[in-house]
Amino acid sequence: MPTRVLTGITTSGTPHLGNYAGAIRPAIAASLKPDTESFYFLADYHSLIKIADPARVQRSTLEIAATWLAAGLNPDKVWFYRQSDIPQIPELTWLLTCVAGKGLLNRAHAYKAAVDINTARQEDEDAGITAGLFMYPVLMAADIVLFGANKVPVGRDQIQHIEMARDFAARFNHLYGEHLVLPEAVIEESVATLPGLDGRKMSKSYDNTIPLFAAKSELKKLIAGIVTDSRLPGEPKDPDNSHLFTLYQAFSSAEQSASFRQALIDGLSWGEAKQALLETIDAEVAPMREKYEALMAKPELIEQQLQHGAEKARAIAAPLMKDLRYAVGLRNLSEVASKTKDVVEKKVLPVFKQYRESDGKFYFKFLNVDGGLLLQSRAFDTPKDAGKTIADLKSGAAGMNEVNAVASFAEGISVLDVQSALEELRVAGEEKA
Ligand code: TRP
Repeated sequence: MPTRVLTGITTSGTPHLGNYAGAIRPAIAASLKPDTESFYFLADYHSLIKIADPARVQRSTLEIAATWLAAGLNPDKVWFYRQSDIPQIPELTWLLTCVAGKGLLNRAHAYKAAVDINTARQEDEDAGITAGLFMYPVLMAADIVLFGANKVPVGRDQIQHIEMARDFAARFNHLYGEHLVLPEAVIEESVATLPGLDGRKMSKSYDNTIPLFAAKSELKKLIAGIVTDSRLPGEPKDPDNSHLFTLYQAFSSAEQSASFRQALIDGLSWGEAKQALLETIDAEVAPMREKYEALMAKPELIEQQLQHGAEKARAIAAPLMKDLRYAVGLRNLSEVASKTKDVVEKKVLPVFKQYRESDGKFYFKFLNVDGGLLLQSRAFDTPKDAGKTIADLKSGAAGMNEVNAVASFAEGISVLDVQSALEELRVAGEEKA
């Protein structure tokens, strides 16, 4: 089974060079890896938590969609969709809300930071805080688990959210059976954070950004404003203490960077260095800028792409949601009579449950009639291996001496407990035959 990788992009703001080098470019490269299914979506529900300006929400959604397409995302190879086109996301959000621990949400960094500010101002701790901010991690969890994502590449600030998603999904599975894949955060250590015009991290909140698709003349003006030291032309410059050099590196090959480094050491003037930086960035950005402008001129084409992507995404989301609704008891009432009868007449038996973890391996659990854990298997490379082991246990081909090699006993569970549960299964099988 291919690994599913999922990335959400909050639609607030206009993409800048830092977003491009740090997130967009590596994500698009990753989507080309074999044996990967990539999901990219515009998190416009999330944007409502921060923005209450409808025109800005729409504008940002358009710009970000156009940016990813212009940067080379191939919507035929990946799932590229808009969150608000997938009604199963808010629907699952509610199911997860009902298993999410409020105490866990109290500890979410973003919420806590807002509370801390209020406390410092000696205001009520929840002053001005919406339930949207509080519930943010649950919505994000629904985004992830609805698509069975195994991996979620995120910045350090988002690790906690992925852990919460695992927690909610595990609680759901515990209550209703193994329906949800537990996701794993992937931290890209090598990902560049670009310095902004003033040398601090490029970020909208520092107002030091270079928009990704600024016209070349605008780009030139902004680059002219990059802060440098006061060394004169001819004086050697220190590339390792120059954020201009860091920016250059992010847009050039190793050889180009090496020769630029040498030129700075040899006394290249800051003016010339800025010109070289401008040309280097523009060489990478110009072809994308052209595509971007063409797309922005035809928003209906982008809308079409997103509609198509949403259909593909709903084809995955809808069947899972259907199962989940059933699992929690949101069921068609006309089935009630016969189903209840079934349950009464059907003897409840111990059961083997097979599942796949986010490490890509296959596992099983052996559960007693009361749902209590008897055995937890080790990891198997294929579902077939896991299935074979289960069959051997059921048939008795694998005796209690072999159990230890394939599974561990749950706390407080004895060999006898497992043996009698297996016996119960066998007897039931014979009765049926
Ligand atoms: N919270 C993420 C951010 O601010 C955006 C996001 C929303 C997301 N849903 C997601 C990221 C699901 C990964 C998976 O960057």
